[in-house]
Amino acid sequence: MTEHGFTVERFESIDSTNTYLMERSRAGAPAGLVAVADFQTAGRGRLDRRWEAPPASCLLTSVLLREPLPADELHLATAAVALAAVAAIASLSGRGPDVKWPNDLLFDGSKVAGVLAEADARAWDGAPGTTAIVVGIGINLTWPGPPDVGGTSVEAATGVGPGRDELLDALLFELEARRRLLASPVGRAELASELELRTVTIGQEVRVELSSGMIEGRAVGINRLGHLLVMVDGETRPIAAGDVVHLRPSLAPPV
Ligand code: BTN
Repeated sequence: MTEHGFTVERFESIDSTNTYLMERSRAGAPAGLVAVADFQTAGRGRLDRRWEAPPASCLLTSVLLREPLPADELHLATAAVALAAVAAIASLSGRGPDVKWPNDLLFDGSKVAGVLAEADARAWDGAPGTTAIVVGIGINLTWPGPPDVGGTSVEAATGVGPGRDELLDALLFELEARRRLLASPVGRAELASELELRTVTIGQEVRVELSSGMIEGRAVGINRLGHLLVMVDGETRPIAAGDVVHLRPSLAPPV
């Protein structure tokens, strides 16, 4: 079925909507393909974690994008989906979650959704530099997530429990506008500004786990490439990708 420029395939049960779209992408599927499932038997989270949820308790969906993104801006595809989810939840419940950079959505500090983006440079549609990116998101609708995460659900945080189809429709509507922004530097800067406005990480003391090691400092902003700016020993460091832990709110206001 086509919705807001996306082609949606629905599954009662699947291994993982991300895995499925990655396979379809390698087989040449066009951009805009969306997979949504009631249940995943091998759902995947970041850092090789599993992502498990009871049937029909969450929106579990992935989208295949093929945008001409420079390598250091690929994560803006994550931002496009995360921000579309924020706007979609707000439009249906009256309250949007915050973004914990780069890929979690939080209500009052509790995780309500997570995004997993995977790029496949081998799978592209013919235009040089057009990397295939599969962006998956799991949004807790009525279930707060596994006990060790201390998460929440849209229903618990807002008092409104939108249906999965309704939320998917709103998400794709919001994503269509943001997907167009990914195509140009000006559009991407606009997306980065929206990300900065929504990111609750800014102003926090953070620990960032990078592939090259770990840093601690104060998150002070997001640049036009969508990188998190972290002040470490008086020096601002742009972080393109990493796992962030919020340590505590900073006493000093963000600059
Ligand atoms: C995270 O917070 O670690 C990211 C979780 C992403 C989960 C979603 S659910 C739909 C899609 N399919 C998957 O296997 N994972 C993502």
